[in-house]
Amino acid sequence: MKKKKKKKKKKKKRRKIKEVGLETNDRLRIRITDAKQQRWEIPQQILPRSSSSSDQCFSSQTEYQQHCIWQPSSELIFTLHNTTPFGFTVSRLSSGDILFDTSPDASDSGTFLIFKDQYLQLSSSLPSHRSSLYGLGEHTKKSFKLLRNQTLTLWNADIPSANLDLNLYGSHPLYMEVRSPAGTTHGVLLLNSNGMDIVYNEGGDRITYKVIGGILDLYFFAGPTPEMVIQQYTLLIGRPAPMPYWSFGFHQCRYGYRDVYDLEDVVANYAKARIPLEVMWTDIDYMDGYKDFTLDPTNFPLEEMRKFVNALHRNGQKYVVILDPGISVNMTYGTYIRGMKANIFIKRDGTPYLGVVWPGPVYFPDFVNPAGAIFWAEEIKIFRDLLPIDGLWLDMNEISNFISSSPTPFSTLDNPPYQINNAGNRRPINEKTVPATSIHFGNITEYNIHNLYGLLESKATNAALVGVTGKRPFILSRSTFVGSGKYTAHWTGDNAATWEDLAYSIPGILSFGLYGIPMVGADICGFSGNTTEELCRRWIQLGAFYPFARDHSDKFTIRQELYLWDSVAATARKVLGLRYRLLPYFYTLSYEAHTKGTPIARPLFFSFPQDISTYDIDSQYLIGKGVMVSPVLKSGAVTVDAYFPAGNWFDLFNYSNSVSVDRGKHVILDAPPDHINVYVHEGNVLAMQGEGMTTDAARKTPFEILVVVNSGGNSTGEVFLDEGDDVEMGGGLGGRWSSVKFHGGVVGNKVMVGSEVVNGGFAVSQKWIIEKVTILGLKLNGRANKLKKGGYELIITKGGAKLHGNSRVHLSGNGTFVIVEILGLSLLIGEEFKIELTLSK
Ligand code: NOJ
Repeated sequence: MKKKKKKKKKKKKRRKIKEVGLETNDRLRIRITDAKQQRWEIPQQILPRSSSSSDQCFSSQTEYQQHCIWQPSSELIFTLHNTTPFGFTVSRLSSGDILFDTSPDASDSGTFLIFKDQYLQLSSSLPSHRSSLYGLGEHTKKSFKLLRNQTLTLWNADIPSANLDLNLYGSHPLYMEVRSPAGTTHGVLLLNSNGMDIVYNEGGDRITYKVIGGILDLYFFAGPTPEMVIQQYTLLIGRPAPMPYWSFGFHQCRYGYRDVYDLEDVVANYAKARIPLEVMWTDIDYMDGYKDFTLDPTNFPLEEMRKFVNALHRNGQKYVVILDPGISVNMTYGTYIRGMKANIFIKRDGTPYLGVVWPGPVYFPDFVNPAGAIFWAEEIKIFRDLLPIDGLWLDMNEISNFISSSPTPFSTLDNPPYQINNAGNRRPINEKTVPATSIHFGNITEYNIHNLYGLLESKATNAALVGVTGKRPFILSRSTFVGSGKYTAHWTGDNAATWEDLAYSIPGILSFGLYGIPMVGADICGFSGNTTEELCRRWIQLGAFYPFARDHSDKFTIRQELYLWDSVAATARKVLGLRYRLLPYFYTLSYEAHTKGTPIARPLFFSFPQDISTYDIDSQYLIGKGVMVSPVLKSGAVTVDAYFPAGNWFDLFNYSNSVSVDRGKHVILDAPPDHINVYVHEGNVLAMQGEGMTTDAARKTPFEILVVVNSGGNSTGEVFLDEGDDVEMGGGLGGRWSSVKFHGGVVGNKVMVGSEVVNGGFAVSQKWIIEKVTILGLKLNGRANKLKKGGYELIITKGGAKLHGNSRVHLSGNGTFVIVEILGLSLLIGEEFKIELTLSK
């Protein structure tokens, strides 16, 4: 031990900025490590980072004191100020604004950078009066914007998300900082998989990382808009996985479904209640003795299960089951035998580490080991050959363990010198997980790789499903890390059926949008504890507009399927009706997420960064850039105090309701028990379809193009169309996809709507038709009556040629704005069109 300590001291002296690199014009990397000795870093094979360009500023062991000279195009400037004590800044070229400043100050002199074997510390000052921070999850937070005076701990743990502020299932050491008043935004990632505490101080003027291993590998993303930060971030870590079209339908799950007949009943009851149900799920109940890849022969027998899944498929519905990583230690269990033979379990002291989860004693597959991923893929294949499941749900992968094994005596891995604030009271890092001294393939310790297990399992499962189905996979993982979005969706875990958790679901979902995991939702109606009719009603109203919408509950709670209360059923039909009409919009946003990283559910400041009042808002959010959801989050409330950024907004349930504000303003909206307020902002064009009991059915209905004109006269929107579950989404021209951009506006007394089509052949082959164009936001003043009496000329052209159809114009609305509907159209969405509506003067 003594020897070791001496060594550590030496190491401290050798700390160096090993590399500072301008990776792209808007990304800068600062990597601080031990110049002489290799330390743990997340391997490229595990988390591929998009390759950096060769324009490194310097990579050195010696030129430590040198300032960098950047190309003029670089927006991020690194300046090294001191070597002892050490300090550097990162600033913006365009404004000179200092984004990160590690210079020591009086209170902390000398300790701004600490680099020991098992303790790294780095601190930066922040301009407290201008700075709003977001991210650094996963935690359940009262507020999306990070509150000051708190320690954010990152160490993946099976801690129910009903707990505020504790470290939860995933780790995302990324923050986004928005600076008022202009809303200029940048991002900072500390790419490190070790446990850490991040201290955001009381004054809001300092952030301090306290990390128990690895290196200080910092990435800065220049933005300057929130969207661009996420684009730059996901360019580095991997863009979000494409999601199958069906995954945007409504999902029903419960822990505690008795048997296959129970499942059948639930599906039948949804159909009877005319509430759309896309995906039926089953929790661990289906397994035989909670063993992965088995079926309980009594309650979920294979033949009956096959019949059930086939019936779902015939009806255009899907089936997803849960998998836990722990493999039951059981000599009569094929999966276990094959796992042992393949030698793929995580080891401790040379033998597989024995944990305890649902089936009792278990070993955990090591997904670092390529053979572990192969084993897993084979098991998935064997199971899927029996039962044609459509997606997989990965639970307990923090890794959750029902026991805490004793630490290895004197091991500083099991018992590190700095105890992070695990579980809120500095519980040992080994608590209820695989001990840190366990060993993965390549001699990697659990200590280092712990936070990556969920990522690795998601990656292996994604590859396995692609291999087995040849289709775009759907995976839902509880544990996540930087880069998980490339493989999986996420839900926020074990929330409670409380009004608080309904509200906290919004910060949770918005945070995962920042992490590049845009397909995210919370358990609708609440997981633990008994829900109530009112809570469940309000929850489905909000949940219908989560990117991922699933009702899920705990075993010993009352049932909460949406058809169980008439009022919940009625509201579910209404809100899911709108969700399904918006499916092309959700799906197009998922395409945008896949290609650019942009979240599906976004905080208001993404679209209105210059409106500083939006920085604190987390009781409302946007879907895409212009659809705002303002839910009721309190029991008994029948109004909602909603903030509206400047402009005209229109109610998507009833186009004749509108809100117009010159500057951002709070507006009290009616929110009767069956209603949630969903408004679209001027300047947007939405491609919508009809309702359906399945996404398949909804996809067969004609399109309505909703044009919300703005004062500038240039509304835009687009729709991405493909077949919905090809492995690739988009890709080269000529593929099985189309993309259509819409624009609309008013010039003088002319209303114009048109489209530009890329790769239209696919959409044409599907015969998708636009039946109706609706124009919102027109003020006709005195001319409305004239128009009603036919005082207009309507010209529709396709490829320059006039169309003579049965189209007609319908006018309604008697408030400030009229609603113009152009009905009776039959335009192929895959072909460009132009509509000109000239109103007589
Ligand atoms: C924990 C998960 O978070 C929850 O959703 C699930 O129902 C239970 N495990 C049982 O599998």
